[in-house]
Amino acid sequence: MFQDKVVIVTGAASGIGRQTAIEFARQSAKVVVADIDEKGGNDTVAQLKDDGHEAVFVTTDLTVEADCAHLVATAAETFGRLDILVNNAGIEVTTPLHELPEHEWDRLVDTNLKSMFLCSKHALRQMMPAAGGSIVNVCSVSGLVAWPGIAAYNATKGGVLMLTKSLATDYAQYNIRANCVCPSIIDTPMTDVSNGHDAAVKAEKAKLNPIGRLGTPEDVAHAILFLASDKSSFITGTALTVDGGYTAI
Ligand code: NAI
Repeated sequence: MFQDKVVIVTGAASGIGRQTAIEFARQSAKVVVADIDEKGGNDTVAQLKDDGHEAVFVTTDLTVEADCAHLVATAAETFGRLDILVNNAGIEVTTPLHELPEHEWDRLVDTNLKSMFLCSKHALRQMMPAAGGSIVNVCSVSGLVAWPGIAAYNATKGGVLMLTKSLATDYAQYNIRANCVCPSIIDTPMTDVSNGHDAAVKAEKAKLNPIGRLGTPEDVAHAILFLASDKSSFITGTALTVDGGYTAI
């Protein structure tokens, strides 16, 4: 489905990002893996190469503009073009708002929102002259409704939603689409951390989704691939829930 296409996936050392990189490679894309976690990023690329796919890892702190510029430049230099950007990397902070130190707020906003601005900015500069591209941002149901107890995280995801709509509005004239996916709880290392690695807590959380299970990284990756592909060529500015019905209630 993505023959000759070049995709950057941020946060692809782990969880949803790693699975998204794998699914793109299986559909013949050339994959640029970006992450601050060198070991995890190299492991993802090793797995892709072992399976016969083309991939490269770029160590990137997505909160730093020079790193994001270098990431996009490396994609273009290595594979000659950039077709798709998946802004996936993110962190969760569970401290209640009235106890949240200012520097933690800044770290959260920089990682979850500024990173998407920076990568989009530099990706757009590649995509605009090529008159085409697709950006998929990983938002959350908490960008649509307030998940209890994580106000600062919710705020960053609300920002991701409006960044997505704004990209869609401003860059449609360049044949560049922008969409986001909004997962509810997905079974990843991030969720393990926020649940204190407690299987019982995880099982309880799964009941919040009417479908009765946690989502998988594959569930989210499949939605991302759809939005990145030509099969969604008339879809831009949308927020696709991948939430087992969480927001349908
Ligand atoms: P994860 O913790 O498994 O993976 C996140 C990746 O982002 C890690 O590899 C980490 O090293 C990387 N990262 C963090 N800060 C970075 C930085 N400054 N520069 C470069 N890379 C950095 O998390 P998961 O669950 O796969 O989350 C991926 C995305 O999905 C995030 O945006 C998250 O907010 C979102 N999401 C996750 C949900 C869940 O239940 N797991 C639900 C809804 C949204």
